[in-house]
Amino acid sequence: MRILVTGGAGYIGSHTCVELLLAGHDVVILDNLYNSKIESIGRIESISGKSLCFVRGDMRDAALLGDLFASQTIDAVIHFAGLKSVGESTAQPLEYYQTNITGTLVLLQAMRQAQCKTIIFSSSATVYGQNTAPFVETMPTGKATNPYGNTKIMIEQILQDLVVADPAWHVSLLRYFNPVGAHPSGIMGEDPNGIPLNLMPIISAVAKGQYEALQVYGTDYDTPDGTCVRDYLHVMDLAQGHAKALEYCARTQGCEIFNLGTGNGLSVLELVHAFEESTGIKIPLHYAPRRDGDIAVCYADASKAKRVLGWIAERTPKEMCEDTWRWLCRA
Ligand SMILES: NC(=O)c1ccc[n+]([C@@H]2O[C@H](COP(=O)([O-])OP(=O)(O)OC[C@H]3O[C@@H](n4cnc5c(N)ncnc54)[C@H](O)[C@@H]3O)[C@@H](O)[C@H]2O)c1
Repeated sequence: MRILVTGGAGYIGSHTCVELLLAGHDVVILDNLYNSKIESIGRIESISGKSLCFVRGDMRDAALLGDLFASQTIDAVIHFAGLKSVGESTAQPLEYYQTNITGTLVLLQAMRQAQCKTIIFSSSATVYGQNTAPFVETMPTGKATNPYGNTKIMIEQILQDLVVADPAWHVSLLRYFNPVGAHPSGIMGEDPNGIPLNLMPIISAVAKGQYEALQVYGTDYDTPDGTCVRDYLHVMDLAQGHAKALEYCARTQGCEIFNLGTGNGLSVLELVHAFEESTGIKIPLHYAPRRDGDIAVCYADASKAKRVLGWIAERTPKEMCEDTWRWLCRA
């Protein structure tokens, strides 16, 4: 198949493109490089040993999208492009709704015009809001705790409505938990523009001496060690989940939702210890009060992805830490 990957130069997109190329698909990336670098394209090609087509542009540009679909047959779209910072979305809601919602609508209109009706969408565990873990796909989503999460809920709804209106669409909504790690070669990993805000990149920054200590927000949660629990999964497992979802989505009409997580929770302190054991570097900690909006425990019920897609996240926390560190220590 020829797959259009929006946001394919970004963190999860770039790892997924490697898997798609290795599986024999042709890949077209559309990315405006807002949060990624052109080097990402060379890394994908170098690891996979295959070339791809890169279009630098904005998914909100309807004329560009029209030309892109008119100039070649696209069989399916994997839609990663968007803004993704929870904190930033609270300060800049209009930018988040504009990019994520308008961008998706422009993309879907171009797809419909070209009769391309297969799409995999990057959703997030954040749509579960204040539900109690383990999160199951059948739980009501309701309202997220921030504009970023609301854009994910709205886009899920748009895609579900689209399938009701036209059952010929093939839609998979993939709800990611907490992707970490990097390609094991050490030549590709998370490489955003600006400061990464997730736990693993901050642990790594402390290890590299860029920060004095890791701020641990909250030590009095109702968890075994009092710190927040999340479902960390290796980005390579997540990339392979997209390849499985693509196979499924291409042969099945309608809309299906899948959690992509390990099904196991790891606390902040457990991830820190895994990192220390993998790298031999001690991470100084600074205990701070809870942050607004953080829930205590978030992990997936990952049984549907196993049952329907034949996918499980196999890589261990040790591999997540080792691969992150190898990438960050590259020459
Ligand atoms: N990383 C996570 O923890 C996580 C968790 C759950 C869901 N997600 C979702 O997965 C997707 C990919 O996440 P990621 O971590 O790879 O993010 P990323 O920022 O690394 O990748 C997103 C890519 O989209 C591009 N982009 C942004 N706006 C664009 C636009 N208007 N037109 C074209 N390209 C545009 C960026 O330049 C970037 O390369 C996002 O939709 C994100 O919300 C990520």
